[in-house]
Amino acid sequence: MILAKSRNRVSASTPPKAAGDKRYKILETQMKRFQYRQDALIEVLHRAQELFGFLDHDLMRHIAHHLRLPPSRVFGVATFYHFFNLKPKGAHSCVICMGTACYVKGADKVVAALEKEYGIKAGETTEDGKFSLATARCIGACGIAPAVVYDGVVTARQTPESALEIVKGWLRHGS
Ligand code: FES
Repeated sequence: MILAKSRNRVSASTPPKAAGDKRYKILETQMKRFQYRQDALIEVLHRAQELFGFLDHDLMRHIAHHLRLPPSRVFGVATFYHFFNLKPKGAHSCVICMGTACYVKGADKVVAALEKEYGIKAGETTEDGKFSLATARCIGACGIAPAVVYDGVVTARQTPESALEIVKGWLRHGS
């Protein structure tokens, strides 16, 4: 009975865009490990940032729901500490998984290619504000390593060439 209740709680709070995104599942496992303790909020936010590269509003609401905290408390903590990124500043975001499986399959080369091409480091945004680059730890898609999340879409088996093509496509269309 308790389990069924808990399942409902999970699905009700999972943002619709997250359907099939294993990162939410990993984060939920992590929160469960902390027994949904409210005093684990900072650790949970850290793990969320490692998974997603930044903390957007849907994600913070999701965490607030699970830890049974008011969203304002979660937003307050996330904005207070400078090490939390609330949004990619760019119009487009590219989050490269640097977990072990992705790393051994060349994720570092994908990061290096984008850093070189756009003159930014992971965690930064291009000066024109069009593109933010971030890295994350294992996002739960090791079977399709190296995985890259382009504007929230997990994409399989990326190479420096495929990543450059996608980002160039964004910038070419100027959106
Ligand atoms: S290491 Fe990249 S998805 Fe697991």
